[in-house]
Amino acid sequence: MKHLMDITDLTTMQIDELIMTANDIIVNPMKYQDICIRKKLATLFFEPSTRTRLSFEAAMIELGGSVLGFSTSDSSSSAKGESVTDTVQTVGYYADIIAMRHPKEGAPLAASKRTTVPIINAGDGGHSHPTQTLADLLTIQREKGRLSNMTVGFCGDLKFGRTVHSLINALSRYEGIEYVFISPKELVIPDYVKANILDRNNIRYIETANMDEYMPKLDILYMTRVQRERFFNEADYVRLKDSYILTPDRLICAKKDLSIMHPLPRVNEISVKVDDDPRACYFKQVNNGKYIRMALILMLLDISV
Ligand code: CP
Repeated sequence: MKHLMDITDLTTMQIDELIMTANDIIVNPMKYQDICIRKKLATLFFEPSTRTRLSFEAAMIELGGSVLGFSTSDSSSSAKGESVTDTVQTVGYYADIIAMRHPKEGAPLAASKRTTVPIINAGDGGHSHPTQTLADLLTIQREKGRLSNMTVGFCGDLKFGRTVHSLINALSRYEGIEYVFISPKELVIPDYVKANILDRNNIRYIETANMDEYMPKLDILYMTRVQRERFFNEADYVRLKDSYILTPDRLICAKKDLSIMHPLPRVNEISVKVDDDPRACYFKQVNNGKYIRMALILMLLDISV
């Protein structure tokens, strides 16, 4: 594997290997602290980010490497009309590996054809966000001790949420996974996800607008933000944005070992009162994101301890 565009680029064996390396980094950080010395990571972010960009940069620094890049398209020559592919070809002469976020689906894939260095898709439009999925899988593995035999609830914007589509794609490869999709009818899971992943693999799922009815069944509740930036019409966003707000009251009937996840940023969909609940895992996801990205950088640069 040279680039990472989508979670399907990784076999389950490679995902297991990444999780194993990330867990080893967590336990033995000193072993890895100089392993990428003189290597450079470029972060090319054409769309805003806090966690993904900074965790990639922290990951490379903790591996002993250096970072360069930009965090907004208007601080690069794309503001002068330069194409994404020319930008990436250029940066390929300066860096050993590139993490790239772009609002257009497929932009990182197009860019990967024009450079010899590994490109990591750090989120492309509503399509895919494979490194968030890796952070989610590491979190589930650490919380549950397994990636199989679970009922996973996804709640919120299941239409535009790229982290949702990527995680469904990844988890559907494991045994005994069932889903409960909780959303308003305007934000249901796209048909292509149902046809290509769920129906093709005979995976059981329920679609509902009622969060409370299914709460007691869930092992994982994956909350998502309504993706304002993907709406064509502000009035629709305003109408739908607070469709689901997770509060301590709604968790009374949930399992004692439920894991509450969210890729963040959150807006209003999880009350801050839930943060102290031991079942809240969303800041663990943030932290795990750095370790799994360290493992991924090592895999793509073909570096081992
Ligand atoms: N989860 C995630 O992608 O967060 P950022 O948009 O802050 O990178």
